[in-house]
Amino acid sequence: MSLPLVHLENITVAVGEAEDRTVLLDRVNFEIPELSITALVGGSGSGKTTTGLAILRLLPSALNIEEGRIFFNGEDLLNASGERMRQIRGGEVSMVFQEPLNAFNPVFSIGYQIDEVLQVHTDLGRVQRQKRVLELLDLVGLPEPGRMARDYPHQLSGGMRQRAMIAQAIAGDPKLIIADEPTSNLDVTLQARIIELFKKLKDELKLSILLITHDLGMVGHMADHVAVMTQGKIVESGTTGDILSNPGHQYTKELMEALL
Ligand SMILES: Nc1ncnc2c1ncn2[C@@H]1O[C@H](COP(=O)(O)OP(=O)(O)O)[C@@H](O)[C@H]1O
Ligand SMILES: [Mg+2]
Repeated sequence: MSLPLVHLENITVAVGEAEDRTVLLDRVNFEIPELSITALVGGSGSGKTTTGLAILRLLPSALNIEEGRIFFNGEDLLNASGERMRQIRGGEVSMVFQEPLNAFNPVFSIGYQIDEVLQVHTDLGRVQRQKRVLELLDLVGLPEPGRMARDYPHQLSGGMRQRAMIAQAIAGDPKLIIADEPTSNLDVTLQARIIELFKKLKDELKLSILLITHDLGMVGHMADHVAVMTQGKIVESGTTGDILSNPGHQYTKELMEALL
């Protein structure tokens, strides 16, 4: 077995202290294999977003990682320097969210905001970066990349904006994309297209995707590995085929029944 790309070991996250202490993640163990699409699936409030943010050490300051370790490519992230974490964020690991309008700055063009990532995370010069922005927009299936680059976030449709955010997410040539409910705001047809895009990017760019979702249907269409989370705990994990054909935990069975 090769080393997993990401390994969470006994991660416990809580808010508050003593009698006010609430545990949000309870000794979470979780692996993202290299070159995989690994889903973290569970109901609302189960701790999925908290898990994704913990990997990049982006938790709100009220939340404490009380115990556990997080390894990325063998590197101990909870002991990494602030400078190293800034290199990793948007570089080796990037994020895609449900609502791209929150991720983009409204007053800068799409092209400008993708270029910002290239400036920080690549050695490309100005002319090369301009060319790369257009390539990235083309790679995510956006028509007329030249015009798209000049557009502002609010000028794009929801589906196009999501593609633009994915272009920004791959700009730093990441090994991992954390995609938190990436299609929950899109209709079913657009959802399917974004799923196809993620699969294509995974193969062409040789990266892994952590797919955070409440939708087990999406897991079946997209993920090769899955971990099921409820109330801050992983209740089972394995290959998608094994888990969906033979769910071992009552909660997974309930999620599956909700699909029928
Ligand atoms: N900043 C915070 N302070 C206190 N509780 C929080 C905070 N952020 C999230 N929580 C709580 O943590 C739990 C898990 O939240 P979250 O990780 O967002 O779940 P999910 O993404 O699975 O819907 C929820 O009960 C939520 O209310
Ligand atoms: Mg969430």
